[in-house]
Amino acid sequence: MKVLIATDAGAAAGQAARIIARQLRARPDAVLGLATGATMRPVYDRLVRCHREAGLSFARATTFNLDEYLGLSPDHPGSCHRYMREALFDRVDLSPDRTHVPRGDHPDPLAEARNYEARIARAGGIDLQLLGIGRNGHIGFNEPISSLGSRSRVTTLTSDTRRANQRDFGGLDATPRQAITLGVATILEARACLMLATGPAKARAVAGMIEGPLRAACPASALQMHPQVTVVLDRDAASRLKLTGCYDRPEPEGRDRDPC
Ligand code: GLP
Repeated sequence: MKVLIATDAGAAAGQAARIIARQLRARPDAVLGLATGATMRPVYDRLVRCHREAGLSFARATTFNLDEYLGLSPDHPGSCHRYMREALFDRVDLSPDRTHVPRGDHPDPLAEARNYEARIARAGGIDLQLLGIGRNGHIGFNEPISSLGSRSRVTTLTSDTRRANQRDFGGLDATPRQAITLGVATILEARACLMLATGPAKARAVAGMIEGPLRAACPASALQMHPQVTVVLDRDAASRLKLTGCYDRPEPEGRDRDPC
């Protein structure tokens, strides 16, 4: 695991965007695994800037998102579909038929989860999986005690996660209780993973993921089993890490601000 601790959240997002841009430049037809959440917005903003100002093209790329809330149509304002269209898909040259997000409103959600996995396999698997982390250590919507061998499926959200995400739904009552997510084992099949976590609310989960034991109570700790993981943090998210000699400070200050 490579852990980079940036000075602040903006620098961390810049670092993550540069890693994605580098992947796309090295392999323009890359299959990218994408994540939603507030942490990722500045990453997508930077990628859009790279596209507009530095010619970064997504035209040959394929994307698969990690998860979607159960029961939501792609147009629902709180859906991951809608988030992705607004944050990235409608702002770059991605081909709509190569962007994929699970259908939360599918009449048979379990079949949708399984088919979604099959579609990833048909696309050749994910080259780079972007991941955020929940305050409780979830990745995708694999909540604590999800099997570390889990496949894509329908999951039930914890009250912690529903509380954290209620801002997208205007209150807890309207916040969905279930989601379709890639499984932990599915995520581990990506050829490389890029985790971004910023802010003090993530510090405990980050310490569990990196320095804690491998355990289903912290699904993100499964990344310890993956041979190609980069974790980008800001100082707040890194504040509970103890093995400080093992971690890197990326890039001189100024370069962190470059879009790509
Ligand atoms: C959400 C998503 C994750 C996301 C994480 C962090 O619930 N399912 O994919 O990475 O939680 O979200 P945020 O960046 O808003 O803290």
